[in-house]
Amino acid sequence: MSRFLVLTDDLGFEATVRAAVGGAMVGSIHRLAGAAVRLPPAELLTRSGGEPTDVVLVGPDVDREAALWLSTALDLQHPDVSVVITAVSDPDLVLRAMRAGVRDIADPKADPAQLRVLLERSCLTAEGRRRQQGDPSRSDRGRGRVISIMSPKGGVGKTTIATNLAVGLAKIAPMGVVIVDLDLQFGDVASALHLDPEHTITDAVFGAAAQDSMVLKAYLSVDESGVYALCGPRTPADADLIGPGQIAALVAQLAAEFRYVVLDTSPGLGEHLLAALEQTTDAVWVCGMDVPSVRGMNKALSVLGELQLIPQGRHVVLNFADRRSGLSIQDIESSIGFPVDAAIPWSRAVPLSTNKGVPLLADRVRDGATRGLEKLVRRFDDDSSKASGRGLHRREVVS
Ligand SMILES: Nc1ncnc2c1ncn2[C@@H]1O[C@H](COP(=O)(O)OP(=O)(O)OP(=O)(O)O)[C@@H](O)[C@H]1O
Ligand SMILES: [Mg+2]
Repeated sequence: MSRFLVLTDDLGFEATVRAAVGGAMVGSIHRLAGAAVRLPPAELLTRSGGEPTDVVLVGPDVDREAALWLSTALDLQHPDVSVVITAVSDPDLVLRAMRAGVRDIADPKADPAQLRVLLERSCLTAEGRRRQQGDPSRSDRGRGRVISIMSPKGGVGKTTIATNLAVGLAKIAPMGVVIVDLDLQFGDVASALHLDPEHTITDAVFGAAAQDSMVLKAYLSVDESGVYALCGPRTPADADLIGPGQIAALVAQLAAEFRYVVLDTSPGLGEHLLAALEQTTDAVWVCGMDVPSVRGMNKALSVLGELQLIPQGRHVVLNFADRRSGLSIQDIESSIGFPVDAAIPWSRAVPLSTNKGVPLLADRVRDGATRGLEKLVRRFDDDSSKASGRGLHRREVVS
């Protein structure tokens, strides 16, 4: 069984790949000369001795343009094969690679352990796509996690948390994260990520993009951290043109393409959020450390419970956490009936980052807010949550 086709003349790179795969992963490696990148895809795939290939890994020495061309062709003709290129990443390359259907970009200096994680993910994608091809009902296995950031109250930090989560996740899954601004009337994801999008969600839900994921991908913007973004409509009136069914279809389309789909939402339980919740795997509840916030959250949980729309994954984030607020974490936990998973204290750095359009996790700021946000990100990192033992909940402490 062949899983990896490595195109390179660089024997040092081949040795790193062999060390990454050796013993820890199932399947074998076939190396071909870098020039094989120019072969037609069907012919290339027969060079693995007729065995199926999960991942085509292009070495750092291979011509970049030819690699992108090969990826585009494979994406169209053999979408179940994942392509990984090896290059020093930059936003321009990330965008072009994404458009070419490249699954991941490996750092030329990656050590075997880092490369193994990346190859495992690429194999999972290949397996997921193969399953979907064989199963017309398109089972949910192999689809990305859809994370909705929600709160019944406004101004509690949803956009701050959504954008930071997306940036943090992009470090775990480069090119694997898309953020969607579902605050259709007054969303500010574009400003929080310092983007001036050429296309918005309006373009994405009408016309060709709704039928074709390749077109949809071309409508995404990309920020400096490599996060893909679908920003809100240009005017609040445009929001009325978008129906809940279109949102549900859009989220499903993105979840088939990305490992993480982060949804920033408007306050409350509007129809667009309810449509998105049907696709949501994880809800991040953002709660302020005040009685109206906690009451609002209880009411929202009870309504969603009745509608059977509470997503399976549940994460509670306490924002503006402050020991002197008159409420303790224990008070809040016993009121909502769930543990608080991350606490983010008030931090001067946060409004500063909002105003600059650079999320804290994309900057070098180190403070309590950064630590709280990083803790939240780790909850979605399968490797790190396995290592730390997900079942053990340690109570948050606020300073
Ligand atoms: N932990 C924090 N410390 C200090 N300021 C914060 C913190 N979290 C958020 N803010 C600031 O609070 C303001 C509101 O945050 P944000 O826009 O993320 O909230 P929101 O829930 O998305 O609001 P809306 O409901 O209007 O969409 C922003 O100016 C942000 O910089
Ligand atoms: Mg917001």
